[in-house]
Amino acid sequence: MHTGEQYHEFFLTSRREVALRDRFQQRALALSAPGADVLDFGAGTGIDAKAYVAKGHRTYVYEPSPSMRGHLELYCRDEIAAGEVVIVDADLPCRVDAVTANFAVFNHIPDQTALFARFSTVVRPGGLILASVLNPYFLGDAKYSWWRKNLWNLVRHGRYGFATESGIHRFAPRLPARAAHPHFLLERVFPGGVGRLLEPYLFLLFRRT
Ligand SMILES: C[S@@+](CC[C@H](N)C(=O)[O-])C[C@H]1O[C@@H](n2cnc3c(N)ncnc32)[C@H](O)[C@@H]1O
Repeated sequence: MHTGEQYHEFFLTSRREVALRDRFQQRALALSAPGADVLDFGAGTGIDAKAYVAKGHRTYVYEPSPSMRGHLELYCRDEIAAGEVVIVDADLPCRVDAVTANFAVFNHIPDQTALFARFSTVVRPGGLILASVLNPYFLGDAKYSWWRKNLWNLVRHGRYGFATESGIHRFAPRLPARAAHPHFLLERVFPGGVGRLLEPYLFLLFRRT
């Protein structure tokens, strides 16, 4: 188990993670109107929140881990003092145009039905959710026996990884699409086509109906 500080160091220095984060942030920012309010759900140490504020978006953050949240409070202290980063609790008391959930936050939540219902009270009409989730089809994981063992589960049930120690669940996009209905529509999955086999994360874009 790493502390918020260790997580922060790693994610700001690992080239792969920095490149992935850039791609996610670029997409989130391109999808958001100027000045749109954002909720960063599972905000970690506040790396994305700080970047969104720098681009003019007030950013609400929800982070359940005390260690991660403690580091967020340090890293974003100026933005918090200015009211540009606003920490919220699990009730998510805010109204926003976009929810972001970067780096596998949804993979911690086996059934997301209640979560999408909660988001429906938070996201304004026409608003969006952008989530980066572990890609269950990623061929780079085919070297692991757990990946090969679970292929059939993925094809048949659209998910695997229940009751693992890590608490991480992997799922095909159709599962969160179903959990989101009728509040949100899964509008796009990035990347599409063959790229879907080659990327460690998928970006799921949901639109408020
Ligand atoms: C890999 S970290 C990603 C953190 C951050 N989004 C980032 O981009 O660095 C996954 C985060 O999900 C959070 N998390 C775990 N379970 C959660 C839940 N049920 N609701 C919200 N966040 C959760 C963890 O505390 C952790 O901060």
